[in-house]
Amino acid sequence: MTKGRFLRAALSAASLLAVLAAAGCGSAAVRPAAAAPSPPSWEADNPVRPLPVPPLGSPADFASVPWVTPEKVRLGRWLFYDARLSADGTVSCATCHEPEHGYSEDRPTSTGIRGQVGKRKAPPVLNAAWPIYPVFFWDGRAGSLQEQAKGPMENPIEMGNSHQGVLRTLAGVEGYRPYFRQAFGDDRLDIDRVAEAIAAYEATRLSGDSAYDRFDAGDERALTPLARQGRDLFFGRARCSACHLGPNFTDSRFHDVGVGWRPPPPGRPPADGYRDPGRFAVTRDPRDLGAFKTPTLRDVTRHPPYMHDGSMRTLREVMEHYQRRGDASPNLAPDVALARFTPGEIPALIAFLEALDGTGFADTPPRIFPR
Ligand code: HEC
Ligand code: HEC
Repeated sequence: MTKGRFLRAALSAASLLAVLAAAGCGSAAVRPAAAAPSPPSWEADNPVRPLPVPPLGSPADFASVPWVTPEKVRLGRWLFYDARLSADGTVSCATCHEPEHGYSEDRPTSTGIRGQVGKRKAPPVLNAAWPIYPVFFWDGRAGSLQEQAKGPMENPIEMGNSHQGVLRTLAGVEGYRPYFRQAFGDDRLDIDRVAEAIAAYEATRLSGDSAYDRFDAGDERALTPLARQGRDLFFGRARCSACHLGPNFTDSRFHDVGVGWRPPPPGRPPADGYRDPGRFAVTRDPRDLGAFKTPTLRDVTRHPPYMHDGSMRTLREVMEHYQRRGDASPNLAPDVALARFTPGEIPALIAFLEALDGTGFADTPPRIFPR
């Protein structure tokens, strides 16, 4: 370094110090409340990031969800993984919606606080802000991601808390305050804001650029011949695309595909054979007994076992179920009854389902949280 350059560097360092001193920084010994010169440690692995670029084939379009902002996503990312939102500090959203399982889980049904086991499996949260119809939960009882996010906090066997309890905990975490201000303009804490921030993070969990998306975009070689045969069946005589349609492979509608029904004891009506009423709990229409929301098939290989009750261990078991056209449940969907494919064609359908594994949702949970 030449003498002149050294002098300039030293001078600029000195003037920087002068500016800092003028701004009130560096005088912590005198005024302990002054802002820290470096960002708090928890920001290191959770900076404000630009919204992701949707991968090929994903329906994501952030212009259609203006409430999703980078600042809300950052706040929501902490809240999604923060177990302090549960009654005993052990369960976060990610306990059941795990990144490595496409934001679903690898258990038949969910386990919440104090080891309580629920009756349903956590569905994947992928491309979830762009459904054909806004219906959430297996029975569609929530009408938006924001509304949905309030459910598990108060569910006694999931996070077991009350909304008041969540707000009391968050109010006690000084470190969260600036991020509510950044995201919403002031630091008021209410449950709608908590839910909206979490929903904003969920909206950035995208899936696309699968082998199938590349094939669909014109790359003939992206699918193996077996997967291509599976594709023809899926959109053809196996009738899968009657319900698994659109960019997320779901019609956002409710169907009984013959899962969770057993013949009731003699003398009882067939409707008594449903173990879970499904959509009926919302509509009270007997035709909705045993009907569940069609799940997305994106990244379906990542979260066996399958179905709302996790009753099928592998994709092969699911295909065998459809191949024998479900069980004789009273509300069985006509499209399932009309499906035609042979046991020998099952590997082709599975190869097609495997080609729906995409990218865009991977995340490593933040390690430290605001204090
Ligand atoms: C104890 C496990 C558990 C926890 C914790 C949990 N969930 Fe879930 N989640 C589930 C289950 C099970 C369902 C399906 C429940 C139903 O359909 O009745 C579900 C459904 C959902 C859905 C609907 C998906 C769809 O396709 O309809 C979303 C979104 C979701 N959860 C987000 C969250 C968020 C956000 C949190 C944290 C605030 C959270 N979950 C906490 C188990 C859990
Ligand atoms: C009548 C509508 C309909 C048709 C036709 C249909 N499905 Fe489904 N599919 C559903 C519904 C609804 C579920 C969830 C059922 C439940 O859990 O009770 C489901 C579940 C699945 C699952 C499990 C996903 C998970 O996350 O657990 C797979 C895989 C699947 N279907 C693939 C297919 C394939 C392949 C075909 C064609 C052979 C097909 N489906 C035909 C509606 C349909």
